[in-house]
Amino acid sequence: MKTLIAYYSRSGNTKKAAEAIAKELKADLDEIIDNKKRSGIKGGRDAFLKKPTKIATKKDPKAYDIVIVGTPVWAGTMAPAVREYLKANKLNKTAFFCTYGGSEGKTFKDMEAVAKKPIAVLGLKDKVLDRSKIKKFCEVIV
Ligand SMILES: Cc1cc2nc3c(=O)[nH]c(=O)nc-3n(C[C@H](O)[C@H](O)[C@H](O)COP(=O)(O)O)c2cc1C
Repeated sequence: MKTLIAYYSRSGNTKKAAEAIAKELKADLDEIIDNKKRSGIKGGRDAFLKKPTKIATKKDPKAYDIVIVGTPVWAGTMAPAVREYLKANKLNKTAFFCTYGGSEGKTFKDMEAVAKKPIAVLGLKDKVLDRSKIKKFCEVIV
């Protein structure tokens, strides 16, 4: 099965989680770039307001059997770049993961509303790369 992990990460936590999942599943990685420079807490407001943004990616998700989409939690939901990615790509089979400082909030519910119901979800506390949680998530996907 060909697996792609598409993720957005501003400060590196979601990137590290994406890399750990990719290693487990031997999956390809594609970083979603937000063309809008993000700093401070303004991104949280844009996430909350579901503001569109411009993104850049390198890989074609259509070439994969499953696309795992990762996001940091911003204002209780997905980052604007991830909302844009899900809107732009009609993904058939998905799984979602997020990293957060406090809680997942409505992230997965909101992602499902834009895309399809994922076959698995994984929430990780920011810098804590919980290997057993990652393993369990990957077992559902293989
Ligand atoms: C703009 C902004 C808003 C955030 N909002 C939340 C939130 O609502 N809930 C939460 O648990 N963490 C929140 N966080 C913390 C991030 O979700 C957490 O640090 C995450 O791991 C960052 O991922 P990254 O390093 O891949 O960018 C927020 C961080 C930023 C920068």
